[in-house]
Amino acid sequence: MPSERVETGVPGFDKLIEGGFIKGSTNLIAGNSGTGKTIFCMHYLWSGLQRGENGVYVTLEQRPDEILADVARFGWDFSKYEDAGRFRMESLVASDITTITTKIVESVKRIKAVRFALDSMTIASMGWKERPEESFKIRSKAFDMLNTLKSLGVTSMIISEVERAERPTISKFGFEEFVADSVVLLNYMMVGGASRNLQILKMRRTDHGKKIYPFDITDKGIVVKSLSV
Ligand SMILES: Nc1ncnc2c1ncn2[C@@H]1O[C@H](COP(=O)(O)OP(=O)(O)OP(=O)(O)O)[C@@H](O)[C@H]1O
Ligand SMILES: [Mg+2]
Repeated sequence: MPSERVETGVPGFDKLIEGGFIKGSTNLIAGNSGTGKTIFCMHYLWSGLQRGENGVYVTLEQRPDEILADVARFGWDFSKYEDAGRFRMESLVASDITTITTKIVESVKRIKAVRFALDSMTIASMGWKERPEESFKIRSKAFDMLNTLKSLGVTSMIISEVERAERPTISKFGFEEFVADSVVLLNYMMVGGASRNLQILKMRRTDHGKKIYPFDITDKGIVVKSLSV
């Protein structure tokens, strides 16, 4: 049976993933700083609102007013949807991951959101750095968070920050990418002029594109370019 799909609405992207994310799935979006992760997630939520689907964005990083101002450049006025109770932008302090999870569940339920984005899993699971002896606990809580999202039925995008390292890892604990249903990696290359591209490292139940796809951040948000085969 084909899986029900949730269109991201990002031009050029849905056709690479059989029409969209699997309904109810958890999708990791990984990349270095400045690769377009926040804009991608906001594009996904904006598209949802245009399709009558409510959305929640939880930020543990940037201030909400900054994010909303950034995406206003694309003509996306989220405030009217906030006023209508169809969109929520939550700024949470990076406290313990269980508290964050509880707040996410509350927000999603309050506005009956079907799309959700977390910015970022990396910050949400910061605690273990300070308390290395508790790393296994935070790991299991992070695991619980991803499973809670799945059981809520929302289709989620979870940001994972990738360090600029010789051998970068896709996720903090290395297990998020296994728990997630998909992993999309955003790159910003400076070799031979600046260019952006993305790779779909995995997507369950999906015959996804396997190439490196160039994309642009335009005045209408993210646009994935067509590749001539
Ligand atoms: N209006 C715009 N037009 C074109 N490019 C833009 C526009 N706004 C932002 N950008 C590009 O997008 C980048 C920021 O994207 P975004 O905030 O989504 O990145 P990020 O991966 O979330 O970064 P971080 O890890 O720092 O949060 C900017 O550095 C800039 O290159
Ligand atoms: Mg960001």
